[in-house]
Amino acid sequence: MATLKLENVNKIYPNGVQAVYDFNLEVKDKEFIVFVGPSGCGKSTTLRMIAGLEDITYGNLYIDGKLVNDVLPKDRDIEMVFQNYALFPHLDVYENLAFSLKIHKNKIPVLGKDGQPVLVVDRERIRSLKSEIKMLQEELGLEEAKEAELSKLIQKKKAEIVELKHHPSSPKTRQKKMSKLEIDERVRNVAQILGLTPYLKSRPAELSGGQRQRVALGRAIVRNAKVFLMDEPLSNLDAKLRIQMRSEIIRLHRELGATTIYVTHDQTEAMTMADRIVIMKDGRVQQIGTPEEVFSNPANVFVASFVGSPAMNLFSVKCQEGKLHFPGGASLSLSPVQAGKLRAYDGKNIIFGIRPEDMVIQKENGRSYREALSLILEQKELLGHDVLLYGKVSDAPTIIKAKAFLCRDLTDCISFYCDEEKMYFFDETTKERIL
Ligand SMILES: Nc1ncnc2c1ncn2[C@@H]1O[C@H](COP(=O)(O)OP(=O)(O)OP(=O)(O)O)[C@@H](O)[C@H]1O
Ligand SMILES: [Mg+2]
Repeated sequence: MATLKLENVNKIYPNGVQAVYDFNLEVKDKEFIVFVGPSGCGKSTTLRMIAGLEDITYGNLYIDGKLVNDVLPKDRDIEMVFQNYALFPHLDVYENLAFSLKIHKNKIPVLGKDGQPVLVVDRERIRSLKSEIKMLQEELGLEEAKEAELSKLIQKKKAEIVELKHHPSSPKTRQKKMSKLEIDERVRNVAQILGLTPYLKSRPAELSGGQRQRVALGRAIVRNAKVFLMDEPLSNLDAKLRIQMRSEIIRLHRELGATTIYVTHDQTEAMTMADRIVIMKDGRVQQIGTPEEVFSNPANVFVASFVGSPAMNLFSVKCQEGKLHFPGGASLSLSPVQAGKLRAYDGKNIIFGIRPEDMVIQKENGRSYREALSLILEQKELLGHDVLLYGKVSDAPTIIKAKAFLCRDLTDCISFYCDEEKMYFFDETTKERIL
């Protein structure tokens, strides 16, 4: 069982670059979370702060409700798979998998004469309380208004430290190496799960890219960590292998049930793998939600254009007297409900968004469409049953996704309708969703 909580987590690198701003997220036990966003948006930095490989400049990180800002990476019970994994070239698959088990020691509770665990002072909790007090004291210096409340909290934590120092409450442990038999059992089990049993005696150089990738994953899962962090683990595989490994990772996650955070800049990967997606841009979280939520209810223009392939069509239009006016002269009537909700924007420019698959070139019964717009067709791309039509609507580049059988005899000027239920509107200045 492992939950994670990031509370106003910020990262400022020593050179002054702020890579992450006020990151807030609660990860449930066994959840598969994907961080996605363009290069440089702070995904790896956030992951490395969770692993303890980077300091948190300010903000709090909790694992299972315990503040871990100052807990060493090795004590966090987290395993991380890096983008550029390195296997030991001179060791075979078995040895590569067994390596971390051999060097890692397990904590075993020490029992007293009465057979009960021996208790000692909980130094870890005291350390964590001390750093909480330090943060509260810093806050105290900044926020005079909250002085009474903060001082009370500090006193409470100080009292807890005194209590902890006088009442041993943490089980005493000793470090024990795993036995050869235990290691063998674990290695063979992981090899079985990952389909590596036939390759246990092979060296990395004798394996395919996908098999090597599985060994790298195996080295992380062999230790049964509570949390897995994966930083673009599939980026150096070709497209076909990547798709195959994606489903293997999902299967593994189902089998192991470890809380996982997975980083990628590929929105398709995020959409297919995640329970919930965290979309980031320039160090800030843009939206957190299930793949369905971020697709159907994008919070802003960035999310709308980042999620979905091909991307949502976006048009800068003027909203006037119940109509959208395109720069090239075309116009589209709004429904009375839409016009009502957009009244505050009358006379102003807004961004109108519609996905390629929600623009229909033939009306379907029972659905509500506004009047037709025209696409000046420039290019077609056949994708099996579907076809992508590239062109311009009122001078703005546009893509329509249609059924191929409806597009056999197309002219250069195609009339299409927008599904009223699928129209999106964004504020031109703030880029936030209006409707
Ligand atoms: N050690 C460092 N010192 C200073 N700035 C850094 C350091 N590491 C990263 N940065 C900066 O922090 C920002 C976020 O970097 P980060 O590596 O977290 O991005 P990312 O989202 O993982 O990108 P990518 O998809 O390219 O891996 C970038 O602007 C980067 O230049
Ligand atoms: Mg990165």
